[in-house]
Amino acid sequence: MATAASPFLYPLHKLDSPKCPYLSLKSHFPPRLSRRFLSSSTIRASSAVITESVNHDTSKKQDQAKEVDFFACPICYEPLIRKGPSGLNLSAIYRSGFKCKRCNKSYSSKDMYLDLTVTSGLRDYTEIQPARTELFRSPLVSFLYERGWRQNFNRSGFPGPDEEFKMAQEFFKPAEGGLLVDVSCGSGLFSRKFAKSGVYSGVTALDFSENMLRQCYDFIKKDETLSTSNIALVRADVSRLPFSSGSIDAVHAGAALHCWPSPSNAIAEITRVLRSGGVFVGSTFLRYTSSTPWFVRPLRERILQGYTYLTEEEIKDLCTSCGLTNYSCKVQQSFIMFTAQKP
Ligand SMILES: C[S@@+](CC[C@H](N)C(=O)[O-])C[C@H]1O[C@@H](n2cnc3c(N)ncnc32)[C@H](O)[C@@H]1O
Repeated sequence: MATAASPFLYPLHKLDSPKCPYLSLKSHFPPRLSRRFLSSSTIRASSAVITESVNHDTSKKQDQAKEVDFFACPICYEPLIRKGPSGLNLSAIYRSGFKCKRCNKSYSSKDMYLDLTVTSGLRDYTEIQPARTELFRSPLVSFLYERGWRQNFNRSGFPGPDEEFKMAQEFFKPAEGGLLVDVSCGSGLFSRKFAKSGVYSGVTALDFSENMLRQCYDFIKKDETLSTSNIALVRADVSRLPFSSGSIDAVHAGAALHCWPSPSNAIAEITRVLRSGGVFVGSTFLRYTSSTPWFVRPLRERILQGYTYLTEEEIKDLCTSCGLTNYSCKVQQSFIMFTAQKP
């Protein structure tokens, strides 16, 4: 049954009603954001809605509503049909079942994350990803990640989570009030900050690693200052994002590009899911910068084997070749944070 609580899932027959949640919601956004939220998310929600059996009794209509969801099938990109409570929050998603009408494939939650990988639910087939992806699926690395592993990045020029978050927020200004996906979120270091900021209408913490997502859930559960009402945990491959084309306002990918099996497929996918004007912000380690002495470069290439460390020029080239515009970046030693926008 549909409830009036969700900006992500809303029965079509209610959209004209004065009780529309966008109109009655006690917004925590400043008026500027509320207007943005009202205009873009409402439009998206209305297009992301409903198939419904014909019934002239309104109350029965609500009970029988089958709702088209914010999440899409990773195989055909058709929006999934959700059965269960609506909303982009942990408990509603956990209690819901999702189905693709076209592929006839069902998706459900495992532990506290929704598994939207192509291999979700398979019993006999297992797939081994490249080592740089597999490494982060380990329970030990997932446990250590926020307990020392990530702090090491500072030695390569990463300014640290608080400063990186501030920089990302600056880049995300045009996407404020919209839906943000934290792709390759790891244990949710930045997803939690984005959700807490109150700047976005919803945050999806997405990763390929089951153990990172379990850690992410543990951190969310322990954090009393974090409301779980606007955050979802999703397992997915960055090269097969489970969202409809043009449905996302902001994509963040912190310290991730070098771990992806194919950065070009990933950036193409990110571009596909962004709406026009949507913003992509990523950070990674550079292979070397223009100031790296020529005799050090081959050495760095040997040390960095196993990861896809790109140069500044390669990252810009990838973004522009996927059709993103307004590219800019900030570099500090091997650290780069870059941004680009969907035209
Ligand atoms: C170094 S961690 C970054 C975590 C966090 N975003 C941060 O800024 O600290 C890289 C993450 O990329 C994820 N990853 C690797 N391959 C992936 C893929 N194919 N799809 C989605 N995430 C992937 C890993 O599971 C890991 O959590």
